[in-house]
Amino acid sequence: MTTITILGAGAMGSALATPLRDRGHQVKLWGTWLDDHLLDAVEAGKPHPRTNVLLPAGTQLFRSDELEASLADSDIVILSVASVGVEKVTELAAQRISEIGALVVTSKGFVTDTDGTIRLLPDAITSIFEGLSLAVPAIVAAGGPCKANEVAAARPTATVYGSSDIEAARAAARIIETEDYRVETIADFVGLEIAAPLKNVYAIALGFADGLAETSTQPWHNLRSAFFAQALREMADIATDFGGDAATVYGLAGAGDLEVTGLSGRNKVYGARIGAGESSALALQAMIDAEQTVEGVPASGLAVVLASQRFESPAERLPLLHAIRRVVDGEGDALAELISAALPRALSERLA
Ligand SMILES: NC(=O)c1ccc[n+]([C@@H]2O[C@H](COP(=O)([O-])OP(=O)(O)OC[C@H]3O[C@@H](n4cnc5c(N)ncnc54)[C@H](O)[C@@H]3O)[C@@H](O)[C@H]2O)c1
Repeated sequence: MTTITILGAGAMGSALATPLRDRGHQVKLWGTWLDDHLLDAVEAGKPHPRTNVLLPAGTQLFRSDELEASLADSDIVILSVASVGVEKVTELAAQRISEIGALVVTSKGFVTDTDGTIRLLPDAITSIFEGLSLAVPAIVAAGGPCKANEVAAARPTATVYGSSDIEAARAAARIIETEDYRVETIADFVGLEIAAPLKNVYAIALGFADGLAETSTQPWHNLRSAFFAQALREMADIATDFGGDAATVYGLAGAGDLEVTGLSGRNKVYGARIGAGESSALALQAMIDAEQTVEGVPASGLAVVLASQRFESPAERLPLLHAIRRVVDGEGDALAELISAALPRALSERLA
C-alpha cells in the first residue's frame, strides 16, 4: 500500500483524499495552523466546509503540531496550501520531502524573490531545498480544470501534471489516477505554471461580464468570449517567452482551467461583484469576510511586475492583464478599459 501525505486540509487538499482512498492508499491529511476549524467539522462527522463533501472513510487527520507524524512512512507528498503559504510549509516539511524525493504541488501562484524578480512556484520551491542544502525532489505541478468540490465528489475530472522530470509526473499519475480523476502528463511545466496563476487573473474579467449580465439582465456573452480569447493569447505570449509551449495554454492547463474558473471560481465571483457595480475594495472585503481567498488579486499585481521585467511595452503587449490590474486597483473606467483591451482596435486606427 502506498502512503500519501497531503499538506493543507483546505478544499483541494481534502478533495484529493477521494481519488487516493478510491485507490486504496493510506491517506494522511495534515492541516495547517489555519485549518483547525475545518478538521473540527470533519471530525464531527460533517462534510468538509469548503467542498461540502464528506471526507472518505479511513482518511487520517493530523493537526498542525503533528507534521512529523503525518510525514512518517510517506511515499509521496502533495502540497496543497494557498500560494502565500507555500514557502513556509515547504520549509517545515523540507527534510522529509527531500528524503522522499518527490513532491506534487497543486498550489498556484507567482513568488517574488528577494531582489524583486518574479519566479514560478517550482523554481521558488527548488531554491528552498538548495538554500537548506537538501537534495531537490522531483517537483510535479498539478493543473487543469479541476474544481475541488467535484474531485471530492468523484465527478469526472481531467487534470494535467507537468514536470521537467516527466517520469516523476507519470509516477505520480500512476499512483493517483482513478476512473474519475484522469491525469494527462506533460514535460512543459513552464506553460502550466504560467497558465495556472494567470487564469485566476483573467477569470476576474470573465466574472466582470457575468456581473454586467446580472445587473442588466441581458447577456454579455460576446464580450465575455472576447475576454476569454484575449486571455489565452496573452497567457500563451507569456508562456512562450518563458520557453513554454503555447499548446499547453490552449489545452487543459490554460483554456480548460480558465473555463472552469470563469464558471464558478472565487476570482469569477469577485469579478462579478465589480461588474455588478460594487467597488473593487468592497468586493474584496466581502470575499475576505466569507473566508474566500481571491488569488487573482495578488497574482494580477505580480503578473504586471513580471510583464514589466520581461517585455519592452508590457501594457501594449498584454492589454487585458493591465486593464484587469487597474480594475483591481479601482482605477479608471473599468468597463471602457476592459472593452478596449479585448476588442480588436478599430480598422481606421490600425490602418492609420
Ligand atoms: N479549490 C480548487 O478547486 C483548486 C483547484 C486547483 C488548484 N487549487 C489550488 O490549490 C491551492 C489550495 O487551494 P484551496 O482551494 O484548497 O484553498 P483553501 O482556501 O480551501 O485552503 C488553503 C490551504 O492553504 C493554507 N494556507 C492559507 N494561507 C496560508 C498561510 N499564510 N500559511 C500557510 N498555509 C496557508 C490553509 O491552511 C489551507 O490548508 C491554491 O493554490 C489553489 O489555487 C485549488
